[in-house]
Amino acid sequence: MASGIIKFLFNEKILELNNPDPNQTILNFVRTELKKTGTKEGCAEGGCGACTVVLGELNNNKLEYKAINACIAFLPILNGKQLLVVEDLVSKEGKLHPVQEAMVKYHGSQCGFCTPGFVMSLFSMYKNYGNFNNELIKDSISGNLCRCTGYRPIIDAAKSLNKISKIDQFSKNKKKIISLLKKINSKNVFIINENKKYFSPKTIKELKKIIKKNPNSNFLSGGTDLSLKVTKERNDIQNIINLIDIKELDFIKKNKNFIEVGAATPLIKFENFIKKYYSDFNSVLKRYGSVQIRNLATIGGNIATASPIGDTLPILLSLNAELVIETKKSKKKLSINEFFISYRKTKLKKGEFIHSIRIPLYKNNIFKAYKISKRFDDDISSLCASFNLEINNNKIKNAFIAFGGMAEIPKRAKICEKILKNKQLSLVNFLKAGNNLEKDFSPINDMRASKNYRMKVAKNLLIKCFYEIKTNKLLRVNQE
Ligand SMILES: Cc1cc2nc3c(=O)[nH]c(=O)nc-3n(C[C@H](O)[C@H](O)[C@H](O)COP(=O)(O)OP(=O)(O)OC[C@H]3O[C@@H](n4cnc5c(N)ncnc54)[C@H](O)[C@@H]3O)c2cc1C
Ligand code: FES
Ligand code: FES
Repeated sequence: MASGIIKFLFNEKILELNNPDPNQTILNFVRTELKKTGTKEGCAEGGCGACTVVLGELNNNKLEYKAINACIAFLPILNGKQLLVVEDLVSKEGKLHPVQEAMVKYHGSQCGFCTPGFVMSLFSMYKNYGNFNNELIKDSISGNLCRCTGYRPIIDAAKSLNKISKIDQFSKNKKKIISLLKKINSKNVFIINENKKYFSPKTIKELKKIIKKNPNSNFLSGGTDLSLKVTKERNDIQNIINLIDIKELDFIKKNKNFIEVGAATPLIKFENFIKKYYSDFNSVLKRYGSVQIRNLATIGGNIATASPIGDTLPILLSLNAELVIETKKSKKKLSINEFFISYRKTKLKKGEFIHSIRIPLYKNNIFKAYKISKRFDDDISSLCASFNLEINNNKIKNAFIAFGGMAEIPKRAKICEKILKNKQLSLVNFLKAGNNLEKDFSPINDMRASKNYRMKVAKNLLIKCFYEIKTNKLLRVNQE
């Protein structure tokens, strides 16, 4: 039975909200209704981390903590979860949490505007991991901007946590939290608030019934794109169908031919899995938004957004991924190479949704992917390139090459591929392919990069790819 009541834990108590506004953000609710003003609003678009809160949720009976940007998360996604804001970190006896103490001790704060966000990001790192190395620390705070302290004292504070006991008030109360979370995690949600509706089904069967009755709804996965319609464009979204609570859409499977990922799988989960098979896919994902963004954003959401600079798209194009699409009555398969029609337009028909993505395993190919952006972390690509090459005896048997940021859709470089196919692996051939990229693409000038810059970098990436393959090959030969 569906209900308009959302239930979540706050201060170790169950809070219930009756038909809340589904367009309200968690940030707005925390500051104006819970009156907890430690959580700040900086950019209101997921880019600065000042609004970071942590969600506690059960995953196979294990309590996991996720840092998210409260400014771009809609309130009803709290259903069935624990909400932690910076004020909650201070114990009932008034003692600062070890993360807060470390920030004080290492002078990790000056004006303090960014500090609650950093504290929450470091708190979720502290709770989820046992050992905090440089890479993990930098990744954990990649979505938090500080404009006056500088990052070194914050990183020092984070490193000092390695020497501190992992027992805090949250570990002491873990059993209680788990049993409370189990109590509130069962029901489907159906909110009606004035002219707005929000549905959160738990199965595909229920989802299809909802779609049938409400064909003009917007699907919500991570919300890292959809929410901006409210927070940035100041529009209302009338009907929302949340896909995130549908377990059938959140999975990763593998057989000997391909990996299949459920569309609602958060990128953070997928990035860890894919590393073993396509390590450059993992490297690009590590630079996708921030931990807060990747905790929410899904692979299906990235594909459906169909942005020309969506980071997974050129990679999936070059790997010839296949989309499994749920239609009204059945499932159909479509190559991602046929999915994008024009700027942000796809072949998805009304009411259809992406069920999963099948990524072929090219065991003998060389796969390389590169993301180019102005800032290393938490920045949208100026361009992204992906190369999937079958090379045998120094000959290129097959080449699948795709670029993002070079056209109005993410696109394969078909002419360039043709030039390389069945040719020797040589600099001359890669230079020739690069010189023909103008026939494949005519990029635009925008605030991220100029047309000329994009074309030049695309050519250079091709050459970079060549040299990296050559070096690896030489290394391989040397080792033999
Ligand atoms: C601060 C910030 C940084 C970002 N950095 C990057 C970056 O580095 N690289 C990058 O590529 N993107 C980036 N993005 C963009 C954003 O993260 C992506 O577009 C994201 O992948 C969308 O996924 P989502 O699950 O959040 O989708 P949502 O916002 O939930 O949905 C996006 C669209 O897809 C539709 N949709 C969602 N799931 C499905 C489905 N299963 N079937 C059919 N339609 C569906 C929704 O209805 C909506 O129209 C960033 C965004 C922000 C706010
Ligand atoms: S206010 Fe900047 S990320 Fe939310
Ligand atoms: S302490 Fe001022 S912005 Fe970080």
